[in-house]
Amino acid sequence: MKYKRILLKLSGEALMGNKGFGIDQERLMEYAAEIKDAYDAGCQVAIVIGGGNIFRGIQAEKGGMDRVHGDYMGMLATVINSMAIQSALEGLGVQTRLQSAIKMEQICEPFIRRKAVRHLEKGRVVIFGAGTGNPYFTTDSAAALRAIEIEANVIMKGTRVDGIYTADPEKDPSATKYDNISFDEVYSKGLEVMDLTAFTLCKENNLPIIVFDMNKKGNLQNLLKGEKVGTIVEA
Ligand code: GTP
Repeated sequence: MKYKRILLKLSGEALMGNKGFGIDQERLMEYAAEIKDAYDAGCQVAIVIGGGNIFRGIQAEKGGMDRVHGDYMGMLATVINSMAIQSALEGLGVQTRLQSAIKMEQICEPFIRRKAVRHLEKGRVVIFGAGTGNPYFTTDSAAALRAIEIEANVIMKGTRVDGIYTADPEKDPSATKYDNISFDEVYSKGLEVMDLTAFTLCKENNLPIIVFDMNKKGNLQNLLKGEKVGTIVEA
């Protein structure tokens, strides 16, 4: 297997499936099945999931809400999604532990780095909820931070596009996909991979980022086998 320990970043919006809001049970089970395949193959999997299917702090600010207040609500949304993924995985017989950056001891463990690593070593999927626990940071930043903390080999960002393109493929049909690209090139071309805080964390810590289509069955497994899927950003 090419990667022994991965941090899988999933978007909250993707969990909506074709619904306008919330969690689509079918999509949730599809994701859980993909993750189970990676887990069964012996990969140590940690997960960070966004909360945009339930609440977005930035949009709430546009509606007049205090940004910090909105961001905390967004963090709670990620915990709901994390619990959903946890339940779906356990339904498939995958052992999991959920750790939250904001203490909610009735629901999950607090984030403790050494414990998270121990869980991974013992063959448990670890889900990190509540982002970084701080406002003004995205769940991409949380994913980058946690990936570095647990010394993941790579951060895999599951999206609905199959990689990084020269331009937005949904707007520009002539856009072409990169198989691999350097951190510097992403930066100099102004390509949107992650927000700059998350991206810089990855670059400075030499953590490769793979952007791939999580909605295509088998992609995660194929990545673990070392096949070319999506786009890899590395030094
Ligand atoms: P080991 O120490 O490796 O055996 O890990 P473990 O997670 O099995 O041990 P522990 O006794 O810490 O946890 C047992 C169960 O309780 C697991 O399902 C944990 O997720 C859960 N758990 C541990 N700490 C907390 C907590 O602070 N809050 C909540 N809600 N659950 C917790």
